[in-house]
Amino acid sequence: MASAKTTTVVFSVLAIFAVSYAHNITEILSSDPSLSQFSSFLTQTKLDDEINSRQTITVLALDNAAMATLTAKHPISVVKNLLSLHILLDYYDPKKLHSIDNGTVLTTTLYQTTGSASSQEGSVNITDLKGGSVGFGSGAPGSKLDSTYTKSVKQIPYNISVLEISAPIIAPALLTAASSDVNVTGVLEKAGCKTFASLISSSGVLKVYQSQMDKGITIFAPNDEAFKAKGVPDLTKLSNAEIVSLLQFHALSSYSPIGTLKTTKGSLPTLASGVGKYDLSPSAAGDSVTLHTGVDSSRIASTLLDATPVVIYAVDNVLLPVALFGMSPSPAPSPDSDSPSPAPAPEADSPSPAGTPMSSPPAPSSSESPADSPADSPAGTSADENTKNGGNERRVPAMFIAVGLSVVSGVISLVL
Ligand SMILES: *[C@@H]1O[C@H](CO)[C@@H](O)[C@H](O)[C@H]1NC(C)=O
Ligand SMILES: *[C@@H]1O[C@H](CO)[C@@H](O)[C@H](O)[C@H]1NC(C)=O
Ligand SMILES: *[C@@H]1O[C@H](CO)[C@@H](O)[C@H](O)[C@H]1NC(C)=O
Ligand SMILES: *[C@@H]1O[C@H](CO)[C@@H](O)[C@H](O)[C@H]1NC(C)=O
Ligand SMILES: *[C@@H]1O[C@H](CO)[C@@H](O)[C@H](O)[C@H]1NC(C)=O
Repeated sequence: MASAKTTTVVFSVLAIFAVSYAHNITEILSSDPSLSQFSSFLTQTKLDDEINSRQTITVLALDNAAMATLTAKHPISVVKNLLSLHILLDYYDPKKLHSIDNGTVLTTTLYQTTGSASSQEGSVNITDLKGGSVGFGSGAPGSKLDSTYTKSVKQIPYNISVLEISAPIIAPALLTAASSDVNVTGVLEKAGCKTFASLISSSGVLKVYQSQMDKGITIFAPNDEAFKAKGVPDLTKLSNAEIVSLLQFHALSSYSPIGTLKTTKGSLPTLASGVGKYDLSPSAAGDSVTLHTGVDSSRIASTLLDATPVVIYAVDNVLLPVALFGMSPSPAPSPDSDSPSPAPAPEADSPSPAGTPMSSPPAPSSSESPADSPADSPAGTSADENTKNGGNERRVPAMFIAVGLSVVSGVISLVL
């Protein structure tokens, strides 16, 4: 009796701590070896993070033979585009497939959220065919329903459904979307990030970015408004080396699409890391991701390009690294009425009300995240739990110890 209760307590405590990810697609797929290639490519393209971080989702899985036809013909960036067309942002279990209103529907996919798709080419047509089978095809006009439902893999009602289909869904427009030669400045200029584009060209940092593009890179580009904002330090007062560091601080040496940033805990090194503090800590609240530098923070405004292994985001603010701006450059350097740029005060102020804590950047790295996360995290949602732990891994063990103690006390009280 007591042991049954004990088990219940232990399991319910464990369950509470298992919710930090909505689901784990890798684990779900591991039950079926014929889906191992599909699973492996979700991991390589980081679509697994994207799936795991979403609440309501349907994954249309392909068996190893179907995957082989895709991967033999296309580079990884195209494979990623095509696989993201197999991730539906709605819940379809086998029963719902057979009870679609009027027998046909266009449903939104993950590909549509990358910003590179028109609404039709980013959607999938599901049609209930005669004789009990269900067909799948691209939502682009004139597409055939080349794929059919074969079997259910797993359902966790209204959260995640994994269904196997017979063949890849192909939208012709996605096949040519391979951008192995990304024109970074072209993308930036089109998106209203001209200042940043011209800074990376003139400083030579563009070459650094380019040398990283085969291995993977994530670029955070402040828009033109961001450079004009109050509190942005006067760039003409920085040395060339400092400008280079500042620009390298705006990129990661790895491919981190939005789902990956959402699930990242702790800080990420940037291309400027190595000497001094040049780390960024992401935090997520719902679908939005904010980057914290320790001096200021910025929301990620939009994804400008996601072509594995290159991703470019627009951000609202210039990111100010602790290594360059942690020493509170405030009123000191501009005593003579240099009024147009009244020092980085407004932004530097928000993370820590008094100027003093800023002047001790060598302090434990954990000191800055708690300082700035409360500023922009609207308390309450479960995503905020990650926010608060972001950049502060030391809290996690403490939490587990606390849980451990409560489990032990629960067990003891039940046994008695
Ligand atoms: C998901 O499950 C796989 C295999 O069971 C494991 O290796 C991986 O760490 C898990 N991922 C997360 C985010 O929990
Ligand atoms: C189903 O068809 C009817 C009649 O053609 C139409 O009025 C209705 O809007 C359709 N429903 C959906 C969900 O498309
Ligand atoms: C889905 O595709 C079929 C076959 O091409 C077409 O008849 C049907 O109208 C499409 N459904 C929708 C909702 O566009
Ligand atoms: C589905 O997700 C919600 C929110 O995370 C959770 O409360 C619920 O328990 C989940 N359902 C199942 C069956 O896991
Ligand atoms: C990149 O795009 C810019 C702006 O559209 C253009 O001026 C430049 O020539 C392009 N560079 C390459 C290598 O295509």
